Amino acid sequence: MGKVYYISKNVGLGLLVLGVSALATIIALSIAYDKEKAKNQGRPGDGAADSTSMPTPPATLFTPKEPWDRYRLPDSLVPVSYNVTLWPRLEPNADGLYIFTGHSAVVFKCVKETDLIIIHSNKLNLTNFHGHLAKLSGLDEVTAPTIQKSWLVVKTEFLVLQLRSRLAVGATYVLYIEFQGELADDLEGFYRSEYTEDGVKKVVATSQMQATYARKTFPCFDEPAMKAVFSVTIIHKRGTVALSNGREIDAADGVIDGMPVKVTTFEPTERMSTYLLAFIVSDFVSIQSNQNNNLLIRIWARKKAIDDRQGDYALNVTGPILQFYERYYNATYPLSKSDQIALPDFNAGAMENWGLVTYRETALLYDPIVSSTGNKERVTTVIAHELAHMWFGNLVTLRWWNDLWLNEGFASYVEYLGADYAEPTWDMKDQIILYDMYKAFAVDALASSHPLSCREEEVNDPAQISEMFNTISYNKGAAVLRMLSEFLTEPVFARGLSSYLNTFAFDNTEYTDLWDHLQKAVENTPGIHIPHTVHDIMNRWTLQMGFPVVTIDTRTGSISQKHFLLDPDSVVDRPSQFNYTWFVPIKWMKTGVEQQQYWLLQKTDTNSLMRVSGQDWVLANTNVSGYFRVNYDLENWSRLLSLLNTNHKALSVINRAQIIDDAFNLARAKIISTTLALTTTKYLSKEKDYIPWESVLRNLNYYILMFDRTEVYGALQAYLKKQIQPLFEHFRTITANWTRVPSGHTDQYNQINAIGIACSMGVRGCRELIRGWYRQWMETPNHNPIHPNLKSTVYCSAIAFGGTEEWDFAWMKFKNTTVASEASRLRAAMACTKTPWLLNRYLEYTLDPTKIRKQDATSTIQYIAQNVVGLPLAWNFIRARWSYIFQQYGKGSFSFSSLISGITKRFSTEFELQELKKFKEDNLHVGFGSATLALEQAIEKTTANIKWVTENKAQVLKWFTEASK
Ligand SMILES: *[C@@H]1O[C@H](CO)[C@@H](O)[C@H](O)[C@H]1NC(C)=O
Ligand SMILES: *[C@@H]1O[C@H](CO)[C@@H](O)[C@H](O)[C@H]1NC(C)=O
Ligand SMILES: *[C@@H]1O[C@H](CO)[C@@H](O)[C@H](O)[C@H]1NC(C)=O
Ligand SMILES: *[C@@H]1O[C@H](CO)[C@@H](O)[C@H](O)[C@H]1NC(C)=O
Ligand SMILES: [Zn+2]
Repeated sequence: MGKVYYISKNVGLGLLVLGVSALATIIALSIAYDKEKAKNQGRPGDGAADSTSMPTPPATLFTPKEPWDRYRLPDSLVPVSYNVTLWPRLEPNADGLYIFTGHSAVVFKCVKETDLIIIHSNKLNLTNFHGHLAKLSGLDEVTAPTIQKSWLVVKTEFLVLQLRSRLAVGATYVLYIEFQGELADDLEGFYRSEYTEDGVKKVVATSQMQATYARKTFPCFDEPAMKAVFSVTIIHKRGTVALSNGREIDAADGVIDGMPVKVTTFEPTERMSTYLLAFIVSDFVSIQSNQNNNLLIRIWARKKAIDDRQGDYALNVTGPILQFYERYYNATYPLSKSDQIALPDFNAGAMENWGLVTYRETALLYDPIVSSTGNKERVTTVIAHELAHMWFGNLVTLRWWNDLWLNEGFASYVEYLGADYAEPTWDMKDQIILYDMYKAFAVDALASSHPLSCREEEVNDPAQISEMFNTISYNKGAAVLRMLSEFLTEPVFARGLSSYLNTFAFDNTEYTDLWDHLQKAVENTPGIHIPHTVHDIMNRWTLQMGFPVVTIDTRTGSISQKHFLLDPDSVVDRPSQFNYTWFVPIKWMKTGVEQQQYWLLQKTDTNSLMRVSGQDWVLANTNVSGYFRVNYDLENWSRLLSLLNTNHKALSVINRAQIIDDAFNLARAKIISTTLALTTTKYLSKEKDYIPWESVLRNLNYYILMFDRTEVYGALQAYLKKQIQPLFEHFRTITANWTRVPSGHTDQYNQINAIGIACSMGVRGCRELIRGWYRQWMETPNHNPIHPNLKSTVYCSAIAFGGTEEWDFAWMKFKNTTVASEASRLRAAMACTKTPWLLNRYLEYTLDPTKIRKQDATSTIQYIAQNVVGLPLAWNFIRARWSYIFQQYGKGSFSFSSLISGITKRFSTEFELQELKKFKEDNLHVGFGSATLALEQAIEKTTANIKWVTENKAQVLKWFTEASK
């Protein structure tokens, strides 16, 4: 699936710190990247405890007696093809229920003798044929055994048929089933989405199959390795349009059960996995192009959105991105069409259904008038992510969900390459540092992290499968694959990749198959040398959790590695067969000159080339191409710091950012002093670039969170005010006194940071500027004078410094806007008010779906908790209603686990720790579902925060006080 950003990435920051009041949402970054995932826990009543078992190895070994009590399908039957007919009703029946009906015929082959047919079916009512739930027949003159007994197993989501005799190995059979299901608004399987246009309620039938919901739409062998060809027919109301994975080949009017309908049939799909199927009935319209050799490319959305040309940008970039991947993978686009559709209600950020990709509106639609640069970038990267899956994931599919990290990590890496091709002036390839690597570093530096890869037996039930959709899979996956591509070099990586894709097209693999093909590419390329095989090198990065900090002592040339843990006192209780050492590829430079890549293969080593003196300096992990942090002896640190102060442009933007980010994290881990880390920010009064600033702000955000309720905050504010002032003036100048936006893509982001921070730190003129803009808008509500880029920041501070009038104006705009990205900005900004009763009222709104959509409830509560005034209110709110929130929102919302981590971000006192523990105890009977792990991590982080504050508060206060003079 694609990513989920609750707020568009670049907007977050400004907002963040900006909140002066520390509405500090920067943190939102961490939420922001919670990439997609469909949802979490398992079915109600089906062992909330199961859902937590994921990365805890080894899963409790209980051996079910009967094959239908296991979660995995037996290996005796293999599907070949399906005919599926579905008829969703977009109006409720006499009982007020929205339903769909359908029938399916699956052709399957028996490959091992058995007298049982086990096929997935969940929440479907099956028609009874003479006492049985299905009809079985043989193909090619084979006589099928008669059915003795048939029944459904709710827990494992199976339909089971006990036969009177055995199926013959090698023979092919057809199983025919008729069924009826509910077209619920649960965002799972075939579901109903509602929206209002021009005051009229509209209903859309749409689907989300990943990971285990195809079985809720029709009975099927619902595992990714059970690939088959699907011939789909959809019956639908006249005047609506039906879409599926294949191109529509016929659409005829008919009358069924006395109802006039349209019957749309689709060309048979390629051999594919059930989780990539999609079925949609709507009154949406599309725009299209045939720019890629007759490949039909369409963008679908609500009519109004298409009329407003909000789909144009997506259509513009899709063709080039597909062309880029065709060249990169050296494989043509495998299908005859590419549909992409924006849905008003969608749980994940996007889903890569083969040939019919579904998106949240904010991930596909772009309105040149109201959307920001950040919104546009999000559209580009999410499209690039989903289209990358059309080959990697869809054409070639991992056998089982334990390898999900490879599928998602891969798409999360190459999305930057695809987006860079579509928008070459944006420096997209640099941004992976901010959006994937830093995020992975943060989670993977905890003792509670887990390895990328896990064994197939550890992932069985749907809850365990859902837990695989996490930061480690997406972000660390992306980081280590990028490192692999960097040390193999991109041409070799691409060659191995292409050979892998061509070899396994329409089939399934395990992650080691990719290593094999990359290894072959290495062996076939003269001049490329790696010190071990791709397998052996990558095993260190995928089979053990965490990553190393590499320490270079430039006085001696000694170089060593150590497992990096953010909290040095934490205890790692997960053993590693490699003893937490890695094979580390180190790209490095000496005094500005790129050196030959160095491999650190043991715990310690010496490289005399790294011994320097005088003015010379060493910088390792250039462009952060490796997934590790770097520390130096103090002399080299001080040479790097003085270089930053005298000539920071001697280092690339990424390396400037890296020095800062490594320093702050090493300080957190007590490897270097806090004051050394803070000193890396001194040169900032000269820095104009986005990535280093963003890096600093994210790191200082931790200081803001820990101290914005203490006296340290005043000194911090004074320092940051001094540092941001020149940047604020710089942007005032280059935008001709704020009358236009900077031309550079990342400069536009940095302008947002500059204004956001300047306002929260009290730079003269900033608040007045912002309040003036917002006032102007309130006076002419139909004409918004605020540039889309600046809206988030301006809305948030205007509401923070304003009162009820500003808030109510935002609410009115929120209810009336038809632009999804504008709605999310307003929704975030309304959490910025410092008025407690407004915040409490807003919290109440989150549980009323007529006010805040269900899909947005948990992220809205988090926004409120980012606000220093809102935090205690939000915490009381969720504690008081945990069981209700859990019942109502725990299941439909993938952001559920970030609710806990979001709310507890500032926790840093013994009292808060006790409250957290009590919360856990008090609600054990309710459970925490997908938030279970997050709760454990929150307890761990709070403990670490308490310690950090105790140890650092005095020196931080002193440092800021002196530095701000
Ligand atoms: C599937 O549909 C096709 C086209 O209508 C038909 O020829 C074929 O017999 C059907 N297969 C099964 C197993 O019903
Ligand atoms: C399925 O059957 C149950 C029990 O008869 C009934 O309550 C439910 O409404 C049915 N569901 C649908 C979608 O028809
Ligand atoms: C799409 O491309 C056309 C033609 O290049 C261009 O005129 C238009 O501005 C683009 N639209 C968007 C939203 O980028
Ligand atoms: C691209 O694919 C073709 C056909 O599969 C193959 O002959 C060629 O070597 C590939 N090129 C690269 C650069 O891998
Ligand atoms: Zn994905």
